[in-house]
Amino acid sequence: MSATVSMLRSAPRTAVRSYSSSSQPQRKVTILGAAGGIGQPLSLLMKLNPLVSSLSLYDIAGTLGVAADVSHVNTLAQVSGFAGEEQLGKALEGSDLVIIPAGVPRKPGMTRDDLFNINAGIVKSLSAAIAKFCPNALVNIISNPVNSTVPIAAEVFKKAGMFDEKKLFGVTTLDVVRAKTFYAGKANVEASEVDVPVVGGHAGITILPLFSQVTLKSKTWSDEEIKALTKRTQDGGTEVVEAKAGKGSATLSMAYAGAIFADACLKGLNGAPDVVECSFVQSSVTELPFFASKVRLGKNGVEEVLGLGPLSDYEKQGLQSLIPELKASIEKGIKFAKES
Ligand code: NAI
Repeated sequence: MSATVSMLRSAPRTAVRSYSSSSQPQRKVTILGAAGGIGQPLSLLMKLNPLVSSLSLYDIAGTLGVAADVSHVNTLAQVSGFAGEEQLGKALEGSDLVIIPAGVPRKPGMTRDDLFNINAGIVKSLSAAIAKFCPNALVNIISNPVNSTVPIAAEVFKKAGMFDEKKLFGVTTLDVVRAKTFYAGKANVEASEVDVPVVGGHAGITILPLFSQVTLKSKTWSDEEIKALTKRTQDGGTEVVEAKAGKGSATLSMAYAGAIFADACLKGLNGAPDVVECSFVQSSVTELPFFASKVRLGKNGVEEVLGLGPLSDYEKQGLQSLIPELKASIEKGIKFAKES
């Protein structure tokens, strides 16, 4: 059973137990952009998470209704809603984990980089508020382009003198979720039994699923089959953008993926052993300063950035091809943060 399915099934039972005893640490989770397409279902999923005792929902507008709605779910977390910049500090104070799905999503024909002009500024100002109001929190960035927004947040944190590379994460879990689902569908196996690392970044060819390392090898795949699975994983977001035909990008599957990653961060904070997820973090795995790979999570955030493991020739080629694009996106983010 996957972590989140088990989390969902156990939520009410655990919540009832948590009211009478507090063996678990109190954890405050804040969602910035909570009234949006991702923010709303993510708020619900975090309300179901028994590790969350306080859930703080912030957006520029519309959060009070979302907070009232989610607060009626009979689980442990106490929910508070905050709307407008003047309430941002209150929303963030005391947070253990901040999740950021704030910003505009893609429309058909757009790349994630086309979102840069709007979302870079949003992530920059939200990061400045995190530096001020909850400098010790773990930060999960969902806002695209992740390949640039994570370096932007890092620069803001450096300027504020509180950057801790162990605490900043770009959320790439949806790429992993898609790789697992698409592989399981082709292999005709149970999706929850499949694990596939996805490395690199979170846009187009920078998304590199390592199908040679899949945990449940069902057969020998041809090069063409692996290429098709890789392409579908890389284009998964665009598949949803086109199907939604102007009404946004992935929200429900992203909320699911965001909830899995946030749950892993909380488990790590609480000292659970062997919590490993892929994430876009500061890294020395390649020559690039940020890179997505498997990361072991612990009490301080990143405990260990794991290496890539053995790659097939096709994956080695993919790695070489993605480096220049990912490098340019990282540099674009750093330049923006330094100059704006
Ligand atoms: P949306 O437009 O439905 O929601 C965004 C929310 O952010 C809105 O409620 C808006 O009011 C809020 N917002 C805007 N400026 C804000 C600010 N300064 N402070 C707080 N909230 C602010 O968009 P959706 O579909 O929820 O997507 C959000 C972001 O997530 C987009 O950038 C999208 O590209 C990205 N995304 C990332 C994925 C990933 O795998 N990392 C997958 C899918 C989407």
